[in-house]
Amino acid sequence: MDWYDAHKRDLPWRTESPRDPYKVWVSEIMLQQTRVEAVKAYYTNWMEHFPDIPSLAAAEEDEVVRQWQGLGYYSRARNLHTAVREIMETYGGRVPETREEIRKLKGIGDYTAGAILSMAYGKRETAVDGNVLRVFARIYNIEENILSAKVKKEITELVKARQDAERPGDFNEALMDLGATVCIPGQPRCEACPLSTVCKAKAAGKESSIPLRVTKKEVPVEPVTVFVVRTGEFYLLHCRPTKGLLAGMWEFPNCVGEGGQGKTALTAELAAIGVRVEEVPGSVKQIRHVFSHKIWQMTVYKVSAEKDAGADSRLPSGWRWVPVTELADYNLAGPHNKILSLL
Ligand code: ADE
Repeated sequence: MDWYDAHKRDLPWRTESPRDPYKVWVSEIMLQQTRVEAVKAYYTNWMEHFPDIPSLAAAEEDEVVRQWQGLGYYSRARNLHTAVREIMETYGGRVPETREEIRKLKGIGDYTAGAILSMAYGKRETAVDGNVLRVFARIYNIEENILSAKVKKEITELVKARQDAERPGDFNEALMDLGATVCIPGQPRCEACPLSTVCKAKAAGKESSIPLRVTKKEVPVEPVTVFVVRTGEFYLLHCRPTKGLLAGMWEFPNCVGEGGQGKTALTAELAAIGVRVEEVPGSVKQIRHVFSHKIWQMTVYKVSAEKDAGADSRLPSGWRWVPVTELADYNLAGPHNKILSLL
């Protein structure tokens, strides 16, 4: 805390005491995914246009987005706008004071909730961002991946145990400043650090290799349109090829593609095997299935079809009309089991 009192950064959202929760909130949302230097001017401009919750709640969305223009990630501005309107309606225009209530507001996660509660309301709450994770991983010589939920939780507990009881908000910001100016990524400036004598990573000579950050590999999202085709007593199923993804398992008729295009393609595919379908209005559902190498974003429609006496014999190989009572005997592919459980 002594270090912070001597070295804290002079930032436009830190000028008032006590701090206005709305101002803490706006600055923290702007600071997500955006550098401090870039945020300063936007923050000042924002407060000229929308100095408080009522003024932001009363603004048109177009105007709100215009003042955010250039900061990027516009959903941040829209969420903020939605949340202040909710505060006007539900909390009489005052930011609530419990983590539970704040977390319910649009766009506010654990970090932002902790920042508002500690900095504006003086609550003993943590606000663990990337800076704090790095600082603590070094002080405690934590060599595991700091982006894993487990390590984040452990570090949050350590921060809680170390937090200054009198000045929790300043404590959180002190860690951020230390991380942003001294305990920086890569090669830290240990000669300027007030904690260098207690830092375990430094003692072990590991200060530049900690923290470990392993991001999950980005996997492509593939849109898939699925029809659950049902005549009164039967579902139409297809058996997947014996090679490849989900080989030899059964599935509801589907095709890669989404929206009108997916529907048209799948309708045509089924017409080609003699099955004429009609969508059941209002039945559409979105289901996601994560494989190790891709994600299926499935748009599932219930559709009805006619099945006459000769329908079975007209189906090509690999297709089958399955009585509802026998569905359990079929080895349905995982994503399609998920569909079945939601029918
Ligand atoms: N980064 C995000 N929030 C911050 C804050 N309140 N102070 C310094 N850096 C930050």
